[in-house]
Amino acid sequence: MASRGGFSSKIGFILAAAGSAVGLGNIWKFPFEVGEGGGAAFVFVYLVFCFILCFPVMLTEIAMGRKTSKNPVGAFNALGYKKWNFIGKLGILSGFLILSFYNVVAGWAFGYFIEMLSGNFEIGNQFGDYTKDVYKVGGYAVVFMISTAFIVSKGISGGIEKASKILMPTLIIMIIGIVIYSLTLPHAIDGLSFYLVPDFSKLTAKVIGSAMGQAFFSLSLGMGALITYGSYVGKKDNIVTSAAFITLTDVGIAFIAGLMMFPLVSYLTEGTMEGAGQGAGLIFAVLPGAFESLGPVFGVIIGSAFFLLLSFAALTSTVSLLEVPVAYAVDELNLRRTKAVWIVAAIIFIIGLPSLVGNGYSEFFTNFITYFGAEQPTDFMTFIGHLASDTFLPLGGCLIVIFAAYVWKKENLSEEISSGYEGYKGSIIEKYINFAITVFCPIVLAIMFISTVLSKFFN
Ligand code: PHE
Repeated sequence: MASRGGFSSKIGFILAAAGSAVGLGNIWKFPFEVGEGGGAAFVFVYLVFCFILCFPVMLTEIAMGRKTSKNPVGAFNALGYKKWNFIGKLGILSGFLILSFYNVVAGWAFGYFIEMLSGNFEIGNQFGDYTKDVYKVGGYAVVFMISTAFIVSKGISGGIEKASKILMPTLIIMIIGIVIYSLTLPHAIDGLSFYLVPDFSKLTAKVIGSAMGQAFFSLSLGMGALITYGSYVGKKDNIVTSAAFITLTDVGIAFIAGLMMFPLVSYLTEGTMEGAGQGAGLIFAVLPGAFESLGPVFGVIIGSAFFLLLSFAALTSTVSLLEVPVAYAVDELNLRRTKAVWIVAAIIFIIGLPSLVGNGYSEFFTNFITYFGAEQPTDFMTFIGHLASDTFLPLGGCLIVIFAAYVWKKENLSEEISSGYEGYKGSIIEKYINFAITVFCPIVLAIMFISTVLSKFFN
């Protein structure tokens, strides 16, 4: 095990896993998904999914990783079920696809840091032109991928663990500050009611599917990222409390990101909330205006600090996304870590090019695909999001729990979880987890998978 490295402490693992979970998913994707999904009803469904459905999946992933000390493919092999390692391979494919577009958005965020530094608050109104400028945003994406690769090449405790420890807490404090400010603005209350007062008539199969995909994406589940991180965890750690902490932190930060955004949207639209459903551009279009209203000095300070920290939050996630295929290449293909890192990063960057140019620059990738029955074409990045995060992640999660419950067997899972948690066996938590992985999650996730495929791709 020495050559693989590991987390130096329990808190190191927790922060790194929370760092993986907390990222653009919480601050960029969650608000725009809420906006598109019609507000509070989406939030409600998302919260329910996170706690009752995703938590058992998370625990299963961490336990499988720790039991085997392996990457998502190797974990199935090490348990003696090589035939099932296609689940891990699906996860690695999801990791490639997700990182390919995630890195582009992370590049946008990093670029916004530079725009805010120079006091260019107008950028919010010119977001379309900004993403079209592919040489500029492409340059930022290169910087981002290189930083990610650099940290991953440093290994677990030196790179990933250290970076997460300082950055996460700072970001949280900053968002809470902006929440307080946004609540003092005119029309804040309309934004809050959009966000918090549910109108359940807005719940369609598509919205429920998006909430499910968002829950998996935000918690970094369904592709083995937590199998991989779990593989570096010590046998004496209580992984139930770790998983609980990770889930609460992630959900909590998404929730306050919404508290930050919707009063701001309401303020900027004078209470009409028009444009809340504009999609991927939401935070990029809205936040600069809010920073501008703080005045030139504060605007620059707060605006640039915000996007810098957002970039760091994205970095602890890109690192975990890259770590999955890299751990696979190191364990299974016997590549040296550094070599694996740079090869994989280069491939993923190239897969991301259509997402980069598909936001206005290339007509072909901007109007990439028209789903059956859809009125409008969908751009490449959104398409990959539907495929990888909304479809593959819940599918992967479904297969992982089915494997753990029926093939590896739930008794073995319990055994692994109880290492580091003495009272686990026989506890109510164990009962719930067993019920969830044997019955509840497989059924709900299988239904969700079918309904998502139908509602997303065949309108
Ligand atoms: N959870 C990350 C976020 O919210 C994204 C991610 C997905 C990271 C899947 C790893 C695996 O930004």
